[in-house]
Amino acid sequence: MCGIVAYIGAKPAQSYLIEGLKRLEYRGYDSAGLAVLEGGKLNVVKAVGRVANLEDKIEDLGGFRGTIGIAHTRWATHGGVTEFNAHPHTDDRNGIAIIHNGIIENYAALKTYLEEKGHKFQSQTDTEVLAMLIGELYAPQEGVDLEAAVQAALREVTGAYAIAVICEKEPDVLVVARKGSPLMVGVGAGEYVVASDASAIVSHTTQAFVLDDYNVVKITRSGFRTSTIHNVPVTSKIMQLELELQEIELGGFSHFMQKEIFEQPKAISNCIRGRLNMDEGRIHLGGVGNFSKELSKIKNIVLTAQGTALHAAMIGEYLFEDLAKVSSVAEYASEFRYRNPIVEENTLVIAVSQSGETADTLAALQEAKERGALAMGVVNVVGSSIARETDAGVYLRVGPEIGVASTKAFTGQVAVLSMLAMYMGRKRFMSADQCRDLMKDMERIPGLIERICEQDARIKKVTEKYIHRENWLFLGRGYNYPTALEGALKLKEISYIHAEGMPAAEMKHGPIALINDGMPAVFIANKGRQYEKVMSNIQEVRSRGGHVIAVATEGDKDITKYAEDVMYIPEIPECLSPMLAVVPLQLMAYHAAVLRGHDVDKPRNLAKSVTVE
Ligand code: G6P
Repeated sequence: MCGIVAYIGAKPAQSYLIEGLKRLEYRGYDSAGLAVLEGGKLNVVKAVGRVANLEDKIEDLGGFRGTIGIAHTRWATHGGVTEFNAHPHTDDRNGIAIIHNGIIENYAALKTYLEEKGHKFQSQTDTEVLAMLIGELYAPQEGVDLEAAVQAALREVTGAYAIAVICEKEPDVLVVARKGSPLMVGVGAGEYVVASDASAIVSHTTQAFVLDDYNVVKITRSGFRTSTIHNVPVTSKIMQLELELQEIELGGFSHFMQKEIFEQPKAISNCIRGRLNMDEGRIHLGGVGNFSKELSKIKNIVLTAQGTALHAAMIGEYLFEDLAKVSSVAEYASEFRYRNPIVEENTLVIAVSQSGETADTLAALQEAKERGALAMGVVNVVGSSIARETDAGVYLRVGPEIGVASTKAFTGQVAVLSMLAMYMGRKRFMSADQCRDLMKDMERIPGLIERICEQDARIKKVTEKYIHRENWLFLGRGYNYPTALEGALKLKEISYIHAEGMPAAEMKHGPIALINDGMPAVFIANKGRQYEKVMSNIQEVRSRGGHVIAVATEGDKDITKYAEDVMYIPEIPECLSPMLAVVPLQLMAYHAAVLRGHDVDKPRNLAKSVTVE
């Protein structure tokens, strides 16, 4: 969603800000803006659309040389996509400019109060209300400087925020603060780069600290001071950013999504490294070790997530019941949090999330925790809000995911959930030998994904054949029913083709009416318990004129009798097969989007991390 970058130092801020905005483009946005202080004056430029449009406007103005500034990419929530609504927003009295991620929930009441005080608003945003409030409270002659005014304003606010604020009257000060939305400060030599994610910092410095909720940091060119919104001093711990620059660059690929699909062998290797203990026939997961006793008593598991992560969670539901014999359910976090869920004794809630910042997932986790559940995270971004909120957790370790359409995070989530299910299984019914056998298969996964990726050119050809079709079905059963949902989601996200995923048997209860001459139906038909049943479903589609594309197990000759096109995956136990079956579907979606001429990494209307409910 929205992205934040801010700079204070000795060099012109503009290039830092623009580069940072470009690094954050992947998060999804619809307008961008920047404010630079130069010669005691605030220069604000905004543009609808891409960062490139903003760059053009700045160039037309001759560029800025000021050494302090803030910049933002906005994904519209309050108010339409207009320049007025884009950030930065300013107050009407003191030359204060602010950028903001999150939502100020009580903005309407604050706006009424400020209007009564004579403030005139230009936009419909909650952020402008915050700018005006800081301006209203700013009184340097009475000792309320920018830092104090920000603290005071945030004491009045309910909602979520990550903000960066500058002011004409204090050209040596950048104030940043956080509650609920991520924000970190990169500490360089005589300069600071603030950003909502590490990718906008790492090309300048690898030393950084993360703000905690309710932290306010006053940064000058010679140092910084962290406090709470009540002005209680806080010590910020500087850490080494693990992120490598090459991880957030294309490195020869055309798109991040493509890079991340092909990176899956390496990502899964990193994910499982050191976690499979062959000698003992058990799984080693550092982040859950302290809860070993509690985990052996767990009676129910609730997996909660949104989007692609929910599909991984749904696979988790099958895994936990199969391998650990623990009753499990996967649920949209947005539904779980509001439906008065019954959390019985010995319930484990697992929040699955790439970013660790998805608002609904975070709230569902908090709700379950309050009701007494043990909270666990399956998260990619280290130190993210969900990771910090959980009692225990397992990081994906798949590296940063830049492509908006999630790929390697999905396979990483399924890999972690598989290991967790084995871990729990070993505490119950699973023998060391059974566990060892599955671990051996897990170890094969990276090499097998590589083999599937070698079929890329063929998968592209298959996609080309159906590229003009506007409606697609994705069907699977058992473990690969959620994979079918994921295949459909991938296709619609980036190629804007209408696709529906469902359990193959459900087709007969309505969707079969859609099948007409030439409609593509993608079946996940790998060898497994329900193979024969899937074959019957395939024939039901064929006999009605649908085109069948199958994902089948290598060596399955029969499938060619029924499917017009086949994409093969190597043989693997069914419970691990989603990690393979999803790969051809990811590649199909990728090629469909490219063939249709869409911007794969910046799909319309989508955000990488959805931090509003
Ligand atoms: C957004 C992204 C999806 C992602 C979902 C959940 O919708 O576009 O790719 O699956 O959020 O995100 P999370 O970070 O919680 O996995």
